[in-house]
Amino acid sequence: MKKTALITGATSGLGFEFVRLFAKDGYNLVLVARNDKKLEEIKRTYPNLEVTAISKDLSIHGAAKEVFDEIETRGIDIDVLVNNAGFGLMGKFEELNFQKQLNMIQLNISALTELTYYCLQKMKQKNSGRILNVASTAAFQPGPKMAVYYATKAYVLSFSEALVEELSGSNVTVTTLCPGPTKTNFGAVASVEGTKMFSRAMASDLVAKQGYEALKSGKRVIVTGGFNKAGALGAKFMPRSLAAKIAKYVAGEK
Ligand SMILES: NC(=O)c1ccc[n+]([C@@H]2O[C@H](COP(=O)([O-])OP(=O)(O)OC[C@H]3O[C@@H](n4cnc5c(N)ncnc54)[C@H](OP(=O)(O)O)[C@@H]3O)[C@@H](O)[C@H]2O)c1
Repeated sequence: MKKTALITGATSGLGFEFVRLFAKDGYNLVLVARNDKKLEEIKRTYPNLEVTAISKDLSIHGAAKEVFDEIETRGIDIDVLVNNAGFGLMGKFEELNFQKQLNMIQLNISALTELTYYCLQKMKQKNSGRILNVASTAAFQPGPKMAVYYATKAYVLSFSEALVEELSGSNVTVTTLCPGPTKTNFGAVASVEGTKMFSRAMASDLVAKQGYEALKSGKRVIVTGGFNKAGALGAKFMPRSLAAKIAKYVAGEK
C-alpha cells in the first residue's frame, strides 16, 4: 500500500522540492498552503498519485486542527509529516508590525506543534511514522533584527530534539532540518535578500534532498552545507552575546 506524506508550505521553495522528492518515491500527498491555484496546479502534475490539496492559512488560530480534521474526515492515514511552512521578517522587534510577528509565532510554532501532536497520536498507535520539522541555523543563536524568527526556530529545534528522546525505542522518528540561507521565496518575504547572510544562499533542491535523506534515515538533526555546519558548531561554543553580535552583523546589508 502506498504511503502518504503531509507537507505544509508545499507551493514554493523547500516545500515544493519535498513534494517532488516524495512524489518521485511514489507517496500519496496531502499538500497544505494558502495559494489554492498553485496547490491545484501541483495536484495536476501527479495524476498517478492521490493528491489532496488543502488551502489553509496556518497562521490563523485553529487552522492546523481544521487541516487534521479534514484529513480524518477523508480517512487519510499520515505516514510522514513535514512541518515546513514558515516565514521570517527583517527589522527591529518594536518597529515590525506586531500582528505579523504574532502570525509568525502561530505558523512557525503553534501550527507545527499542533500538527505534530495530532499526527503523533496516530503514529504512536501504529508504532510507525516519520516527522520532519524545518527549523533553521537561526535556531542556534539569538538573532537581532529577526528576533522573533530566530526564537521560533530555536523552539522548533528544542521541541523536536525533546521528542526524539521521548520517542526513543519506538518506530516513530523526528528529524529537524536546519538550513542556512537558501534560494526560495523566503528571502523576498523576509526582506533579507540584500543582507550579508544571503550572499551564500544554497540551492533549494539540494537542501530539500539533504533533509529528505536525513528523514529517511531517522537522523536527529541535519544542518545543510559545510559553512552552515561550521557556523552552528561555532555558535555552540562561543558566548551567546558574541553569537548575537555576529548574527546582527550578517543581518546587515552586503
Ligand atoms: N530559505 C531560507 O533561507 C530558509 C532558511 C532556513 C529555514 N527556512 C525555513 O524553511 C521553511 C520553508 O521556507 P522556504 O524557504 O521554502 O520559503 P518559501 O519559498 O517562502 O515557502 C514558504 C511556504 O510556506 C507557505 N506558507 C507561508 N505562509 C503560510 C501560511 N500562513 N499558511 C500556510 N502556508 C504558508 C507558502 O505557501 P503560500 O504562500 O501558498 O501559503 C510556501 O509554500 C520555512 O519554515 C523557513 O523558515 C528557510
